[in-house]
Amino acid sequence: MNRTDLPPSLDEYEHEELRVVRGPRSGITIAVAVHSTSRGPAIGGCRLKPYSSVGEAVADVLRLSRAMTLKCALADLPHGGGKTVAVVPGSPMNPHAREELILDIADTIGQLGGRYITGPDIGTTPEDMALIHRRTPGGAFCRPETLGGSGNSSAATARGVRAALDAAVGHVHHADSVAGLRIGVIGFGSVGRLLSESLAADGANVIITDVNDRLRSSALDRGIAWTGADLLREDLDVLVPAATGGLLDADAATACRARLVVGPANNQLASDDIDARLRERGITWVPDVIAGAGGIIHAVCREELACDEQETNARIDAIGAKVTRILTHADTHEITTLQAADAVIAHPEPTPARWPWSTHRP
Ligand SMILES: NC(=O)c1ccc[n+]([C@@H]2O[C@H](COP(=O)([O-])OP(=O)(O)OC[C@H]3O[C@@H](n4cnc5c(N)ncnc54)[C@H](O)[C@@H]3O)[C@@H](O)[C@H]2O)c1
Repeated sequence: MNRTDLPPSLDEYEHEELRVVRGPRSGITIAVAVHSTSRGPAIGGCRLKPYSSVGEAVADVLRLSRAMTLKCALADLPHGGGKTVAVVPGSPMNPHAREELILDIADTIGQLGGRYITGPDIGTTPEDMALIHRRTPGGAFCRPETLGGSGNSSAATARGVRAALDAAVGHVHHADSVAGLRIGVIGFGSVGRLLSESLAADGANVIITDVNDRLRSSALDRGIAWTGADLLREDLDVLVPAATGGLLDADAATACRARLVVGPANNQLASDDIDARLRERGITWVPDVIAGAGGIIHAVCREELACDEQETNARIDAIGAKVTRILTHADTHEITTLQAADAVIAHPEPTPARWPWSTHRP
């Protein structure tokens, strides 16, 4: 593919590389995008999803890999952004077909010669990362801990969201605790469940919704309220998107009644202009690229930078200070939080010299 053949969105997002292949074993279309390697090898998860078309998958991989560049830069990690998506069937794949697909993905990553490292995302697991790593050594983060990886990153992601939420609650609601706040969480999956438990334990009035109604009893068992109502239209102090991306479109931005939106779901904005619409309505949106960075910080710190758990947690908790900086910058300059996040990347603060990933390395 030469440059003039590229879809407009590739130029728009300024990617370094897009590789679209049909897996020779699986026959499944795989797209790997490398947005940037200017800070170091690109990193970003591997998503298996029944996309309706290859075009939809390519648009997703371009958007998601660009967001990973922002996420890595905001988290001060020595990496750029990349992503893998595969267009899987709507019904579950048999184990053999699935393994062939994972091997095809491993080979595609291997062809990039170390410029991109993957990790788990929707539809993939630490065990899949182990298979990728066996086929393409160094090609995947988050293998199971028993196999030398850092394992499932959900707890670290939830910890990071909590740091972001606490900082944003201080900024928006001038509260030093979540106690008594009405917090709606959309998505009771790995991250949403851990976050809800931590918020409820600290006295927040947590309300959950999830399309999977079978999770209802699990929430109620934990003393967490469940609703089938649309949380976007509920009176809330904080709305937490913890399900899939694209929740915040033009209609949602108009309907949203929470003053603060902060959560881990990737690509929450259906388009970048929604951030401005939320701001006009007095709603503070914390960019998902910082709120959801805990998992990637954990993986890189533990697997690559040899940080212990204490140092890794300190680094995840530092998401709070970064969020305060972004929100303050947005208010001071009357710009959106996404624009403020870009400004914060352009003007990084010195990080402690003991942090080997400091952007101010001598
Ligand atoms: N797990 C991580 O470490 C991590 C890291 C960064 C970002 N994220 C992002 O955070 C989000 C949640 O991650 P997770 O690991 O908890 O995912 P998960 O798949 O475990 O949980 C997602 C939950 O959302 C529910 N859901 C899906 N669509 C919904 C809808 N329209 N309304 C309500 N509920 C819906 C699902 O039923 C599921 O219970 C995802 O967008 C993910 O990409 C996760």
